[in-house]
Amino acid sequence: MQFPVNIFPASSSINSQGSMTVDGIEITTIANSYGTPVMVYSAKDMISETTKFVEDFDRVFFSMKSAPIIGIAQLVNSAGAGCNVAGDGELQVALRAGINPQNILVHGNNKSEADIASALQAGVCRLVVEDEHECDRIERIAQDLGIEKVEVQLRVTPGVEAHTHEAIMTGAIDSKFGSAIEKGIARRVCDRIVGSQTLKLRGFHCHIGSQIFDTKPMAQAAKILAGFFVDLHKDYLAKGIEIDINEINVGGGFGIQYELQDDPPSTIEMARAVKSAVDQVCVANDLHHIEVWVEPGRAIVGRAGVSVYRVGSVKEIPGVRKYVAVDGGMSDNLRPAIYGAVHLAWVDGKSGIHQDGVFTIAGKHCEEGDKLANDASLPDNVDVDDLIVMASTGAYSFAMSSNYNMLTRPAVVLVDSSNENPVREIVRRETIDDILSRQHN
Ligand SMILES: Cc1ncc(COP(=O)(O)O)c(C=O)c1O
Repeated sequence: MQFPVNIFPASSSINSQGSMTVDGIEITTIANSYGTPVMVYSAKDMISETTKFVEDFDRVFFSMKSAPIIGIAQLVNSAGAGCNVAGDGELQVALRAGINPQNILVHGNNKSEADIASALQAGVCRLVVEDEHECDRIERIAQDLGIEKVEVQLRVTPGVEAHTHEAIMTGAIDSKFGSAIEKGIARRVCDRIVGSQTLKLRGFHCHIGSQIFDTKPMAQAAKILAGFFVDLHKDYLAKGIEIDINEINVGGGFGIQYELQDDPPSTIEMARAVKSAVDQVCVANDLHHIEVWVEPGRAIVGRAGVSVYRVGSVKEIPGVRKYVAVDGGMSDNLRPAIYGAVHLAWVDGKSGIHQDGVFTIAGKHCEEGDKLANDASLPDNVDVDDLIVMASTGAYSFAMSSNYNMLTRPAVVLVDSSNENPVREIVRRETIDDILSRQHN
C-alpha cells in the first residue's frame, strides 16, 4: 500500500528511514516515550482546518464532543474558533481552556438544572434550546440567579435526511433532538420564547447528521431554516412584534476522508452552498446581515489524530483468517464496533515496503466484536512488537473511550513543531488507581 497522504495527518510523512513522522517527529520516538496505545495529534493540521472554517463562515464553534481535551480547545481557540458544548462537563473543559464564555454555545437535549445554571453563571454566548419544557426551566433558573436576559437559538429539525449512518442522522423529523418545523412545533416554541421576558430569540440551529458528503442536504437545511425565519419575521411584523434574529446555525457534520474512495466537499464548497441558499431566501426578502454559524468537530480533529498501538500477537487460521492483536481496542476507539467505521492502518517501517496481506486487527478486550479493522491491508511480515498507526482517529475516539475490562485510557500527545516544546503530553495515561478511586472497599 502507498502511504495514504490524504487520510493520515497532512503534516505526516514517511522519512528516509521508512518511519512515519507527524510534523517531523517519529512515531517510534513518541511510542517509546509515552508507551502504547497513545493518541497523537498534529497541531498544524488542527490549526489549518480551523482557519478554513474561520475564513469561510461568520462564526465557528468547535464541537467539543468530538475531542473534549483542554489542549485541543486552546489550540482551535487560538485559531479563531469558539466551542460548542453539550452539558456542564464539556463546558468545564472549555472554561479551563480559557475560552471566553462569549465564544461558547451550550447544547444538549434534556439539559439538567445543573447544566443550565452552570451555563448561565458562566455567561455563555447562547443556550441552544430544544423545546418548551426547557424554556420553562431556563426562565426559572435565570430568575433564581437574578439574570434578566438569556440569549438563545432554537434547535429545529428541518426534516432533511443527510444520507449517513442512522445513529448519526439527526435532522429528520423523527429525532430526539429539537423541535420540528413541520407540524408547527417549532413555531409554537418560538411564540413561547418571543413572549418571554427573559429569553431572547437570536436565531435557529439545526444539525442534520455527521459525515455529510454532499453540499445539497446542508444547503437544503439552511434554506429551510432561512424560509422559516422569513415567514416568522413577516408574521411577527404584521402583528407589530419586533424580533432581533440574525443567526442561522447549521451545526456540524462536515465529512472527512476515512477511506481512499471517500470524497467529501471542501470547506469552501460547503460554505458557498450554504451561504448562497441562505442569501437566496433572506436577501430576496430584504433581510440582510444574516450570519451563518457552524459547529464542526470531526472536520477539525478527525484527520489530525492517529492512534498508535503495539502488536502483541499475530496468528493465522489457515484458509480462514489472519489476526494481528494490539494493546488497545474498543475502549479507546469504539467507532469500528458501533458504526462499522473504517480506519486505515499503517505498520511503521514495514507498510509501503513489504507486500500486503489481509488481516483483521483485533483489540485486547474480552469480546469477539472487539476489532479495530476487518480485512486491513498490512505487510505480510507484520510481527510482534511492530507499531500499528491507525488513521483519522482524532474525532470521537478519546471522547467515547471507556474502561471496559478495566483498561486504562491512553495518553494523548500533541505534536507542534512551531512550539519550543514540540512534543507535549496533553492528557496523561490513566492509571488503575484513577479508576479505582471511585470505588468503595
Ligand atoms: C449539535 C451538534 N453540533 C455539532 C456536531 C459536530 O458534528 P461533527 O463532528 O460531525 O462535525 C454535533 C455532533 O453530533 C452535534 O450534535
